[in-house]
Amino acid sequence: MCGIVGYIGKKPAFPILLSGLKRLEYRGYDSFGFFISDKEKPFLFKKIGKISGFKQNFPNPSGEIGIAHTRWATTGQVTDVNAHPHFDCKKEIFLVHNGIIENYQFLKEKLIKEGHKFSSETDTEVLCHLIEKYFEGNLEEAVRKALREVKGAYGIAVVSKKDPEKIVVAKFSSPLLLGIGQEEFLVASDPAAVIAHTRQVINLDDNEIAVIKPDNFFILKEKPLETIEWKVEEAEKKGYPHFMLKEIMEQPESIENTLKGRLLTNEGMAKLGGLELIHDKLRKIKRLNIIACGTARHAALVGEYMLEEYAGIPTKVDSASEFRYRKPILDKDTAAIFVSQSGETADSLAALKEVKQKGILSLGIVNVVGSSIARETDAGVYLRVGPEIAVASTKATTSQIATLALLTLFLGRQKEMALVMGQRIARELAKIPELVKKILETDSQIKELSQKYKTFNNFMYIGRKYDYPTAREGAHKIKEIAYVHAEGCRGGELKHCELALIDEDFPTVAICPSNSVYEKMISNIEEIKARNGIVIAVATEGNEEIKNLADDVIYIPKTLEMLTPILSLIPLQLFAYHVGVLRGYNVDKPRNLAKSVTVE
Ligand code: F6R
Repeated sequence: MCGIVGYIGKKPAFPILLSGLKRLEYRGYDSFGFFISDKEKPFLFKKIGKISGFKQNFPNPSGEIGIAHTRWATTGQVTDVNAHPHFDCKKEIFLVHNGIIENYQFLKEKLIKEGHKFSSETDTEVLCHLIEKYFEGNLEEAVRKALREVKGAYGIAVVSKKDPEKIVVAKFSSPLLLGIGQEEFLVASDPAAVIAHTRQVINLDDNEIAVIKPDNFFILKEKPLETIEWKVEEAEKKGYPHFMLKEIMEQPESIENTLKGRLLTNEGMAKLGGLELIHDKLRKIKRLNIIACGTARHAALVGEYMLEEYAGIPTKVDSASEFRYRKPILDKDTAAIFVSQSGETADSLAALKEVKQKGILSLGIVNVVGSSIARETDAGVYLRVGPEIAVASTKATTSQIATLALLTLFLGRQKEMALVMGQRIARELAKIPELVKKILETDSQIKELSQKYKTFNNFMYIGRKYDYPTAREGAHKIKEIAYVHAEGCRGGELKHCELALIDEDFPTVAICPSNSVYEKMISNIEEIKARNGIVIAVATEGNEEIKNLADDVIYIPKTLEMLTPILSLIPLQLFAYHVGVLRGYNVDKPRNLAKSVTVE
């Protein structure tokens, strides 16, 4: 989620690191920092904000070895101190990190007892102190020993004043590559940062440690040299034509990050560190009010079904834009949950103000760390999906639903949810990233369908229960990026109005997985077919019967009913994306819309 660059060679490292970090900034980071290793004058600089927006002149350190980082905060607020590089007690070891150290609290407490002094709030800093603890003159050996104690994801680059002339790098579950140049080597989390210097790279594998020196490098095992074929702009999108497609495709990884360290499968529980401080208050809560806008509100609607069915808590979803202007009935037994990708949506912030004025407990489910909603709510849970650049929200949405499922476990198990039910939900949640990956593999089929349907100017999306919000979101996506009129409707409401719209020019996307409302959905599909309507069904793998009824079928794997929306949303996101592209639109920047809606 963060960006790393390192350089070792015969040129001053600083300008190379600076341009490398600028190449990574397209992803919208919140702070940056450098360490340049120079015997005479080592240079450490850390600052919040964007490098591109940094007005002061940088000093000009001359050292030829350096590491740099651009942070997208996950643990610890956005402050100069929390920016990377981090260092040990003696300021001899400097380190940049991309990823999440899941057991950092445990390690931190242990290291503090052993006498280590921490200066930041980050998970990363434990790595510096662990390396310090094991350092006996050889940096790679200390890194190897330190990493044995760590759980989580990391791509790291480390330098030490006591073992200079080298950068040690290591990776697990976070990308890291070596750039092999002429008498110079780079290390980076993203090809965009090295491509101006070399196209020859080695992608490190999990658990590998490499040592790069001014004149050579070694990895624990032999690796082939690869050539990057992308141009610089393509590299920023990791080779995808649009950020939206990149973000859709990132979902197995982004959902995994949301769940990482939070699922206690044996206990059938969720561990939500951000809610621990208000645990006692939460126990007393009798009602929930979820407040959000747009796509985030659709995720909230899925949460409403989950929290009522499995946690037994009466839950209401509000549009933030309406909340202030109606008379919400809130008492001290109610908690308000704000769901937002950006954490800056003006309507949601205004509603939060209202909630706070009434003295109601407020929680945030937010992606951007340190954003206004994250700061101003009493407690919360971060999505950890990394920067979302495309205006149309995709990976944040599926992680909002996954987070609401975690919250359902967290609250439900404190109320009446049985252990076996908790275990079942936790087990099924853990499988979701793999299932999402499987759906993404059917992209070419969805692209073909988009080609077939791209000229239709109206679409109906229908679903019931958990997949009613999915229907709303499917319609929302295609309106937003393909400028096609679409209605998102409850299957059962169709006959009360929208059925009047149906004819052979008004196709319906029917979300009908095999679940408790499947038969009812089949009746709705029959109602549409009886009016010459065209039906594209989103159904569960193995359902052959649906092929006799629907014109086209998109299959998704089986999961728990409450988790189905995470899966059924994926083909709808891809369908909207392809229709938008085929109609010739810039899907990353839809007309008239902005990523962060900071006006009411
Ligand atoms: C849809 C979309 C918008 C946002 C809405 C709320 O793809 O991007 O509908 O969901 O503006 O934004 P956040 O989640 O940042 O509060």
